[in-house]
Parts: sequence; structure tokens; C-alpha cells
Amino acid sequence: MKAKKIKENIYWVGVIDWDMREFHGYKTQKGSTYNAYLIIDEKIVLVDTVRNYLCSEMIDRIKSIIDPSKIDYVISNHSEMDHSGSLPEIMNLAKNATLVCSTNGEKNLRRHFDLDAWKLKVVKTHDEINIGKRNLQFVLMQMVHWPDSMATYIKEDKLLLSNDAFGQHIASYERFEEEIGFDIVLHEAKKYYANILLAYNKQTQKAINEIETLDIEMIAPSHGLIWQKHAKDIIKAYDYFSKDKYREKAVIIYDTMWGSTKKMALAIYKAFDEMDIHVELKNLKTSHISDIMTSVIDAKYICVGVPTLNNTMLPTMASFMNYITGLAPQNRKAIVFGSHGWGGQGAKEVEAQLKKNGFEILDFITNEYVPDENKLSSITKKVKDILS
Ligand code: FEO
Repeated sequence: MKAKKIKENIYWVGVIDWDMREFHGYKTQKGSTYNAYLIIDEKIVLVDTVRNYLCSEMIDRIKSIIDPSKIDYVISNHSEMDHSGSLPEIMNLAKNATLVCSTNGEKNLRRHFDLDAWKLKVVKTHDEINIGKRNLQFVLMQMVHWPDSMATYIKEDKLLLSNDAFGQHIASYERFEEEIGFDIVLHEAKKYYANILLAYNKQTQKAINEIETLDIEMIAPSHGLIWQKHAKDIIKAYDYFSKDKYREKAVIIYDTMWGSTKKMALAIYKAFDEMDIHVELKNLKTSHISDIMTSVIDAKYICVGVPTLNNTMLPTMASFMNYITGLAPQNRKAIVFGSHGWGGQGAKEVEAQLKKNGFEILDFITNEYVPDENKLSSITKKVKDILS
């Protein structure tokens, strides 16, 4: 396993997790990488590590450049174990190294490791460490993704090692976004934002304001591809995502028992289609909630439909409602619908939750048993009237 050069004397020494398909609820169909970076200067620096079960791969890549015992600094930008899980192994090899982290990083890492056994340096925003020709500068990015998150900026290389921010879950041999294609990588970055960072829009805005003061040519995150040609484009995309903006777009999310709620979903779909509004149909049985969130992130209208089972919503919808409540998109307009035999509590619960989440409810449409053609036409007309 070889290190890959990303800049003069700066190497990717991360690992590729070809098998990872789930990241606390996020379906990662393309796998992922955990990116660590090795900087060779008068002092030798390792920025971040990898999940523990892939540690030997990272160490192999480091050894292809230097003896790991020569490492002077190990920077932990984020204490989550996909980036800090191999700290014990690397600190054991690099016995003279100093571990560098934020104040919250120290607090969190102490919950996992015996930090008193290692040399430690705690840093805050604007602190710098000179390593020879380079100065490493630190930018705290609280809640992007955890309270301890920070980025490391190398002025001389105009390089931001951003940790989770700007990452994507893609396992690939390629290291730079242009080698795969900007649109593909941007889509995965959007999915990553929608599922990991959407709840932290304000903190992301704060981080963007901070990093916009830096001269950046390359962004090397801790997951996926490095932004080489499109560093400024991904900052712009994050600015858009984190302002919780949306476009004229609808996502219809539903589940169905005997097809009646699906018929209602299609009648609503028809209304958007006839109004020439971009519309997507997501059946909870066939679309994963993390893919649905990628569609929700820039949609003005969220239409949610569910029948009633055992006096409540279907479990698939309960899972989606729990997920969207946590990720907390704001300022959306909602239509709630559902067919039921008796009771109808499922759709009512969805409506109550979306109201609680701050959604404006444009309509609440229910039906008993099977909707006939007249009912379906009236649904389409009603939705079109609302949109007019
Ligand atoms: Fe990639 Fe928040 O860890």
C-alpha cells in the first residue's frame, strides 16, 4: 500500500473502505475512505488517522514514505473514531510525537484513550505551529460535525485539511474529484451534507465565514475525493446548502398498504407535473431515507403520505419522520395525505410532527378505503389550486 502525493511533500496516507455500506443510518452504497495526510517538512506531521480495523493499511502507506517513529506531530481534527480510532497505534510507533487537538477534542479523546501517556498540545482558531517551511494554522469548526471538529490550514500550500466538512462517502482508487467527475462527487457531497450536517446549518455558516478569509486552492477532506479544481465550487455549494435555500421542487414521500395512498401520491404528482414543477416520487419501501434526504435538501414542497396501521403510522414512515426531525430542514411547505379504513391516525400524526418541525401545512388530504377517479381528480385539482 503506497502513499499518494497530493502536493510537494504532502501525501494521502488514508485507507479505502470498500465494504462500508452504513454510517449510523446513512446508506453508503459507494463505500468510503478515511483520509489521513502526511506532511514532510523539518517536522513530520500526520493529520488524522483512520478507523481502527484499517490501521495497518494506513501504517503501510506511511512506511512507504518515512519511518513512522519520525513523526513529530499527530493532529486530530476530530475525535470521532473514523478519524481517531488509530491514534493508539500511531502514538505507540511515534513515541516522540505530540498530539494536537482542540479543547473539546481533548475532552472527547480522554473518554477513549489515556491522553496522559502522550505529549499533548491544545489549539484554538488562529493558533499556528511552524514545522519548517510551513506554518499549520487551525480553524475550529464546532459542530461541523462534532463539538471538537477543526480544520488544519497550510498557508504555504493554500491547502485546507477540512476533516468531515466537504467530504463524501465514496470508495475509489482515484484521489481527486476531476478523476471521477465533478457532478458525481458533488452529488455525494450533497448527500453527505443532507445526512451529516443539515442539522448544523448555523455552525456551517460560521465555519464558511472563517474559511473564506483563507486563500484556498485545494480542500482535502477526511472522506472521499480531494477538491482540486473545484475547491471554490464546493465552498459555494456548502454556502447554498447551509442557508437552507430551496427551489421550485417537490418530493412526495409515501408508503402504502393496499395501493390507495400510492394512488393519492400519484394524483399529487400529476398536479406538480401539470404545473411544470420538478417533482420526485419516493416510496419508502424502495428508497432509503438517506437518499430521500438528499432530494429533500433543496425542495420547497414536501408531500408526505401514509396509511394507518394499528392506530398509528407505518413503521417505515415513523423511521423517516424520526430522521427528518433530527436533521431539521426549515421553512418547507408540506402537504400531508393518506388513505385509511377507519381512524386515520397515521396521517394525523405525520401532520402534527411536521407542524412541530416548523413546516407550513398547505393541505391535509385523507381518504377512506380506495379513492375513485373522482376523488383522485379532485386531489389533483386541489393541489394545483394551492400551487396557483
Ligand atoms: Fe467522519 Fe464525524 O466523522
